[in-house]
Amino acid sequence: MTNRAGKTASAPNLRVRIFLAISTSREPGLVELAPSILSADFGHLAEQVQAAANGGGTVIHVDVMDGHFVPNITIGPPVVRSLRKVTDLPLDCHLMIENPDQYIPDFAEAGADWISVHQEACRHLNRTLHLIRSHGAQAGVVINPATPEQTLSEVLDIVDYVLVMSVNPGFGGQKFIPSVVHKIRRLAEWRAQRRLGYRIEVDGGIDLETVGEVVRAGAEILVAGNAVFGSGDPTSNAQKLLKAATEATLLKV
Ligand code: DX5
Ligand code: ZN
Repeated sequence: MTNRAGKTASAPNLRVRIFLAISTSREPGLVELAPSILSADFGHLAEQVQAAANGGGTVIHVDVMDGHFVPNITIGPPVVRSLRKVTDLPLDCHLMIENPDQYIPDFAEAGADWISVHQEACRHLNRTLHLIRSHGAQAGVVINPATPEQTLSEVLDIVDYVLVMSVNPGFGGQKFIPSVVHKIRRLAEWRAQRRLGYRIEVDGGIDLETVGEVVRAGAEILVAGNAVFGSGDPTSNAQKLLKAATEATLLKV
C-alpha cells in the first residue's frame, strides 16, 4: 500500500481501515456521500439536508439545470445562498447549464464551495476551470455517459475533481448505466500514473445495488438523490448507503 507521500506502508487491518475511512474521509481513495437535494422535499430543505448529514452525508450536491443543456429546470444562486446559512458542509454545485462562465461568479458569491461544469458545455474548458478557481471554489469537470474520458486528458492537472455521470443528466431517479464504470477505473489509473490529485465523483442511479461496483472501480464521492431522499428516512438511507460503500472499499484491490 502506498500513502500520499508515496511511501510504502503495510496494509492496515480491517478495523483500522474502517476507522480511517470514516475519520479521514477527504483522503484520496476514501469515500464520501454527497446527498443530492434534487430528490429532497424543497418545502423542508434545511431539515432534509440536516437529516442526510446526520446519516453521514459530508457534501451537499446541488443540481443546477437550465432547460437548455438539459431538458429540465431547477434552481440557482438564491437557493445556494439559503443553503449556505443552514449547513457548514461543502456545497457541490453541479452546473448542467450552457454558458456556465456567465454564472460561476454568482454561484461562488452565493457560497458554492465546489463548482463543476460539463466538458460538453464548455467551448474553452481550460478558461472556465481557471475561472472557477479564481473565485475561490474547487473546480470540477463532468462527462456525460457518451463522452470518453480521454477528452479530459489536457485538464486533469487543473481540476480538483472529475465527475463521471452514470445517467444522462436532467432527472433524478434514473437507472444506472453500467458501461461508464470503466471510465472511473481509467481515471483512477491515470491519476496514479501522472501523480495527480483530483478526486473521482460519480452521479446517477447510485443505490445499494450499484454503490459497491463504483467504489471498487475507484469512485470516492458518491452522489445519491433518490436513494437518500426518495422514500423512507434520509438519515437511515444515508447510513445504509455509506455502510455499503465503506464495506466495498475493503474489497478494493
Ligand atoms: C441528474 C443529477 C443527479 C441526480 C441523481 O442529472 O445530476 O445529481 O440528482 O439522482 P439519483 O441519485 O436519483 O440518480
Ligand atoms: Zn448531479
